[in-house]
Amino acid sequence: MVNSAAIGIFDSGIGGLSVARAVRELLPNESLIYVADSGHAPYGEKTDDYIYQRMDHITRHLTAAGVKAIVVACNTATTAAIARLRAQYPLPIIGVEPGVKPAVLASKSGVVGVLATPRTLLTPAFATLAQRYAGQAKVILQPCPQLVPLIEALDFSGNKMQALLQSYIQPLLAQGADTLVLGCTHYNFVADLIAEIAGPDVSIIRTEMAVAKQLQQRLIQTQLLSSSAQAGADKFYSSGDLELFNRQLQQFWPDVVMAGLKWHE
Ligand code: DGL
Repeated sequence: MVNSAAIGIFDSGIGGLSVARAVRELLPNESLIYVADSGHAPYGEKTDDYIYQRMDHITRHLTAAGVKAIVVACNTATTAAIARLRAQYPLPIIGVEPGVKPAVLASKSGVVGVLATPRTLLTPAFATLAQRYAGQAKVILQPCPQLVPLIEALDFSGNKMQALLQSYIQPLLAQGADTLVLGCTHYNFVADLIAEIAGPDVSIIRTEMAVAKQLQQRLIQTQLLSSSAQAGADKFYSSGDLELFNRQLQQFWPDVVMAGLKWHE
């Protein structure tokens, strides 16, 4: 493996672009290959086996393309099957999990709300995580099944989004939550809307920079960090509709991008 190779980053859709943005910011000299599996989103309503098949398919193609590391930029995929993926592929594989630990540390009321996909909240991996870090805090789980399709559709300004977010967040506030975990990478793109509803006394916990830092650590440990002095190149693929993907990229990728490419089905 050469340290000039790209880093592969994937998600069920565009949520992982928030993680890719953090990686781009922290590691400007790394090249990135991003895969949005939008043709198979949302993962949050699929079985663990289905999700694993998609993870395996994407990782197989990314490793064939020569990537040096993989970031599973999806809480659902990470909690469902990252252990299986790591057992199958020898390269560094970094995942993302809901930030229960930082949330419990930040909470003053001792009540923490976790917003995530239904699948994430049902996995044994999430149960273990919540048990390990909850301590004395009350951790309330809030599945948000309809949120990812709305975000994928770039439907942010309508009443639908407001009503949906209110319906997920108000019950958590009513139970005294002063800290909300964004346990799905898509939700980073509605973090401002969530913060507005929750008000200034509620902390919002995001994990994308922590994931980028963990990736940096692994690349240092494995001597795979890019030694290039030049800015890295980015490539973006989607298994979904490319016209929509290009609009999503224009909205959420900070730099000018090449047109999105079609991913292997
Ligand atoms: N972005 C994903 C996550 O972090 C999952 C979205 C989905 O349900 O497809 O959980």
